[in-house]
Amino acid sequence: MKIDILTIFPHMFDNIFKESIIKRAIENKRVEIRIVDFREYSKDPHKKVDDTPYGGGAGMVLTPDPIFSCVENLKNEDTKVILLTPDGEQYKQKKAYELSKEKHLIIICGHYEGFDERIRTLADLEISIGDYVLTGGEIPAMVLVDSVVRLIPGVINEKSHLEDSFNENYLLDYPTYTKPRVYRGMEVPEVLVSGNHEKINAWRQEQSLKKTKERRPDLLK
Ligand code: ADE
Repeated sequence: MKIDILTIFPHMFDNIFKESIIKRAIENKRVEIRIVDFREYSKDPHKKVDDTPYGGGAGMVLTPDPIFSCVENLKNEDTKVILLTPDGEQYKQKKAYELSKEKHLIIICGHYEGFDERIRTLADLEISIGDYVLTGGEIPAMVLVDSVVRLIPGVINEKSHLEDSFNENYLLDYPTYTKPRVYRGMEVPEVLVSGNHEKINAWRQEQSLKKTKERRPDLLK
């Protein structure tokens, strides 16, 4: 998969993909991530990318042309264009699965007080990562890329994401433990050291269901 992230703050991405699972996915050529500064596409002599809003009001608004030029330059017939905005569709694990099957994503990070409404016409999909407002789309882009890349086949052990919270079966994860067997008086449940895999699986399923009922009954609907 190829991912192009369009931003005017490229340095925010300097280190985020250089650690752990995403770093390995890049090294193993499962994904190629490019950070594209769309300011480079501004035709203004000062590389300006924003202006005041028609009708007045506080703040600056991203102008359409640099983003249009940038997307048009990078796009091909396999591209899915995603715009990150708090008024987009709320992001869920199901969407991460869908996106992990795409060949090329262009992710547009909005900034300042907003963006020119016509920029929306470039997007196949508008996504919000939650009901809160961030200073821009950069952190949402990191969230999106991290959640999608780990689902690309071969990036992590398939079994570990089939059991993830929020996958098809919509159950939260069961509790897990490691050594020591007793820590500050808290004991690892007996069943997990029984060696009986049938019983362990049954216990895990039961715990997942119990936790989901208690914490996220909405997922069971
Ligand atoms: N830009 C600012 N806030 C955002 C959010 N919650 N989701 C996606 N993009 C955003």
